[in-house]
Amino acid sequence: MSKVLIKGGRVINPLNRVDDIRDVLIENGRIKKVDKGISVSADKVINADNLIVCPGLIDIHVHLREPGREDEETVETGTRAAVKGGFTTVACMPNTEPVADSAAVIEYIKEKARSNALARVLPIGALTKELKGEELSPMNELIEAGVIAFSNDGESVMDAEVMRRALEYSKMFDVPVIVHAEDKQLSVNGQINEGLYSTVLGLKGIPAAAEEVIIARDLILAKMTGAKIHFAHVSTRGSVELIRRAKEEGINVTCEVTPHHLTLTDAMIESYDSNYKVNPPLRSEIDVLALREGLKNGTIDAIASDHAPHALHEKEREFQFAPFGVIGLETTLPLVLTELVEARELSLLSLVEKLTINPAKILGLDLGTLSEGSAADITIIDNKAKVKVDINNFQSKSKNSPFHGWVLNGKVSCLIANGKVVVEDGNSIIPCKEGV
Ligand code: DOR
Repeated sequence: MSKVLIKGGRVINPLNRVDDIRDVLIENGRIKKVDKGISVSADKVINADNLIVCPGLIDIHVHLREPGREDEETVETGTRAAVKGGFTTVACMPNTEPVADSAAVIEYIKEKARSNALARVLPIGALTKELKGEELSPMNELIEAGVIAFSNDGESVMDAEVMRRALEYSKMFDVPVIVHAEDKQLSVNGQINEGLYSTVLGLKGIPAAAEEVIIARDLILAKMTGAKIHFAHVSTRGSVELIRRAKEEGINVTCEVTPHHLTLTDAMIESYDSNYKVNPPLRSEIDVLALREGLKNGTIDAIASDHAPHALHEKEREFQFAPFGVIGLETTLPLVLTELVEARELSLLSLVEKLTINPAKILGLDLGTLSEGSAADITIIDNKAKVKVDINNFQSKSKNSPFHGWVLNGKVSCLIANGKVVVEDGNSIIPCKEGV
């Protein structure tokens, strides 16, 4: 019987609004007790004085690139980056090569996770075959193979009839459709946000409307079908407003925002650095303020990294030819701790909620809490530790981060995934032979 005792940490458990000094006892991979002054003899005692102890973070939007682009990331390296960044669970997007639109690919990812992953890996199935937006994927087969949601991420579903049917089927399985909202005709050839900077830099713009018209359409379809809809990486003030009104109306909708859309603007692209090239694009200051306000007032439910690794030789091409995407698993937590909590825009409890229980609820997972009896997924954070982001220290195989050199607050001190200590003393990652 293995017992781990975490002593004296500031325990934050958003599900029951606890934010207090407590001990946490883990027994056989489950949380046995959360209380003051637990005294039992344990196999391992972790001193959490002056540290935050919270449910393991859940990232519902990650690209692990396996199968197909193992030069950019693998299930192993992606989950190494995840645990280093505080995440005990990641949901991985289906835009792999081949696309995750068959049970065979899902089985392959699950097998990789069983043998190599340091964090829980939950595959998201393709919404349409090859993500072409034309024909529905074999959704039943994918559900049976274990997907927890459907998405066309990276590509948009332009055909409203296809989206309607996708929502109807997903409702039967009671899983959400995660929408990459982009009107491909409005965004065609676009490189960055349409506005002053697209004009100044001579790059074709992607208007806010490209995102908003699809959100508006899909909200109407969600209302019509009653399906669960979740909008990935919302980036504009108009999107937040549409979702706020839909929630008021009682539509079954949730949404997420990325750390880069909360902290960067299109003004920063002046140097044509393709590490700022992402889809949806970095928007204006007004949008950033609206996203932050949306987080505060509850319109935005979750923070997700949209970790999108890309090979250096592809990112280093001219801006127009470089792929879209930034990595985020290892910078999300310090970024939001510094930019939102230190800056007193969001309480620590609210932030943890948007990184744990809310993402769990969106995907219908029995995770994201420190409740007694639940799986022992725990992240222990030193929120006072200063870190200088250095791409050379990343666990991820890719380095495409616009945050290199930033000095941030917050470091993962220890991480327990499914009862196993996989990060200790900040840096050391214990190799995991069997997966989590
Ligand atoms: O910037 C992005 N990169 N946005 C997406 O939607 C896809 C992602 C990728 O897969 O690289």
